[in-house]
Amino acid sequence: MSMKMDKAQTSPPVEYVFVAGRVPKLSLLELKAVFDFENLRVLNLTSSLIVVKANALVGSEQFKRLGSLRKAGQIIATFDRADELDLGILEKALGDLRVLGISSLTKGFSALRLGKAVKKAGLVRRFVVASHGDLLTDAQSKGLKKGLEVLIFEDEGKFKLATIEHSQDIDAFRHRDRDLPVADPIRGMLPTKLARAMVNLAQPRPNLKILDPFCGVGRVLIEAIDLGYEVVGSDIDPVAVEATKKNLSWFKADSYQIVETEIANLDRLDLSQVGAIVTESFIGQPQQARVSKHDQGLIFAQVAPLYLDLFKQAEQISTLQSLVVVFPEINNSSLLDILIDKLPKNRYDLVDSVSVSRPRQFIGRCIGIFAKID
Ligand SMILES: C[S@@+](CC[C@H](N)C(=O)[O-])C[C@H]1O[C@@H](n2cnc3c(N)ncnc32)[C@H](O)[C@@H]1O
Repeated sequence: MSMKMDKAQTSPPVEYVFVAGRVPKLSLLELKAVFDFENLRVLNLTSSLIVVKANALVGSEQFKRLGSLRKAGQIIATFDRADELDLGILEKALGDLRVLGISSLTKGFSALRLGKAVKKAGLVRRFVVASHGDLLTDAQSKGLKKGLEVLIFEDEGKFKLATIEHSQDIDAFRHRDRDLPVADPIRGMLPTKLARAMVNLAQPRPNLKILDPFCGVGRVLIEAIDLGYEVVGSDIDPVAVEATKKNLSWFKADSYQIVETEIANLDRLDLSQVGAIVTESFIGQPQQARVSKHDQGLIFAQVAPLYLDLFKQAEQISTLQSLVVVFPEINNSSLLDILIDKLPKNRYDLVDSVSVSRPRQFIGRCIGIFAKID
């Protein structure tokens, strides 16, 4: 469901800058999946930015679909030297707003100096700056509700000024994350933002359903429902099945099928309209310390059959277009790399993969993205 821009908003191409999340490659893949932007370029500053050419404005509903992007703004000015920024541009962008938040990601441009100049010129009552070379914090951005937030960064030897139009709705993510009636901290849950990004990477046609056959407490399914998909879920564990049902009903979902069954036997599910599998299988018992080579082999051997069964099942689903699957990653080595030649792949090809492991995470995650072979 690559989004075509709203016709009513069509305007000449505009340059946008997106602030990537912790894993820039994930953000890039998600943007490519959701929008049909041209010229996507990743800039590695203190925070990673992705600059794109868009044929129309990015609406807030469109931005809200994203899981792994933090902010987005239109680039409204380009200038060669720090002292060349025309305050008239900021005055126009501010309109009636009297508070300005400024992030500068470049050493060559002082947010503080700009703030002082803008205040001295009487354009604002108050300004807020990020610590040097960094972005405003989420709390600072939230405090700017009645103000304008701008971002200054360096690109192709020039300074660029963007007005931030969209910021990640931290409260909405927190609500779906922390207020979930049944959580499972022991087996581990997929972070909400990552679950959302994974659903976006799958991009099935809008009328097709999303299947998570290792549904746990239903994280992936909740994000899929929030994005407008019907869902099918299953899990071997009756406790997980009950948990998912409770969580989905709390989320006021009305169209779903959740069944207790194991991955090798999905016959009891109605798979007739499933367009994508988005899932995190069991990736091994949580580890408290660095995993030895020997134990790594044992963990991979323990979970590998689940993946073989998963892909075997996928071959049977005629409407399936894509699979987005978490594989365990230990000591920089992912089970995906080991299994890739053994997975039944008559119908699906690996199109990309991205590691989202955190430093010091003993079992991390590598996401494999598979698409139907045309
Ligand atoms: C890591 S959890 C999934 C977490 C889920 N993504 C979430 O955030 O809630 C893996 C799930 O796989 C299930 N599972 C393990 N072995 C299975 C099997 N053979 N067939 C089906 N489900 C299985 C477990 O019961 C567990 O709920």
